[in-house]
Amino acid sequence: MPSAAEFEFVQKAVADGLADNGYAVIEHFLSAEEVHAILDTDEFRDRKLLFRKAGVGKQQEKQVNEGIRGDHIYWLDPSHASQPFVLYFQKIRKLIHYLNQELFLSLKEAEIHLTAYPAGTFYKRHLDQFRKDDHRRISILCYLNDNWKESEGGQLRLFLPDATKDIFPISGRLACFRSDQIEHEVLPATRERLSLTGWILDRPLDIV
Ligand code: OGA
Ligand code: MN
Repeated sequence: MPSAAEFEFVQKAVADGLADNGYAVIEHFLSAEEVHAILDTDEFRDRKLLFRKAGVGKQQEKQVNEGIRGDHIYWLDPSHASQPFVLYFQKIRKLIHYLNQELFLSLKEAEIHLTAYPAGTFYKRHLDQFRKDDHRRISILCYLNDNWKESEGGQLRLFLPDATKDIFPISGRLACFRSDQIEHEVLPATRERLSLTGWILDRPLDIV
C-alpha cells in the first residue's frame, strides 16, 4: 500500500489532469504485488470460463458485435469480490471522495468489470456515454500486463481536441478520462491484454 502522502500525490495528479486536460495517466497506481494478487484471484485464473463476450448498447438493445469490440468481461459485485478487488474498490472510493472535494463534483460510486482482450481483438472508436442521461462521468482503466512492449500494440488511443494520445496498457498504470467528452479506441495487440475497466457514476450503484 502507498503511504498517505503518496496516495495524496496520486489523487492530486488525477484531479489536475481531469480538470486541465480531461484525462490523466498515473504510473504505479497499483504496485507489482497488488497486480499479481489481482491476477492470482479465481476470477482472473478462471477467466476462460467466467468472462463473457461484451455487448454494445444498453440493456435490451445490447448485442455482441465483434466488428466493434472483441473483449471478454466479468462484472464485479463489490459485496462478493475477492480481497484484491475489495482493496481496489477502496482506492477508487478514496479517489471519488477526493475528486468531490477538489473539483466540486457529486460522484457516488464506481462500477467495475474485469476485462480480457484476446490477441487481435480491439474496441473501435466510441464514447463511454451511450445516451444523454447516462450516469458515467469518469472512465477508469487500470492495466495488468507485465513487460508490455510498445511493439505489441494494444494502446488506448484518446482523441483530444487537437491531437491523439496513445496510452500503452502497462502493469499498474491507471488511465482515466471524462466519459462524456473523450472519444477513444483500443487498438489490437499481439498478446492477451488484461485490465480493470470502471466508470465513476454520479448516482449510487443500486438504482438502475
Ligand atoms: C471501454 C474502453 C479502454 C481500454 O471498455 O469502454 O474503452 O483501454 N476500454 O481498455
Ligand atoms: Mn470506452
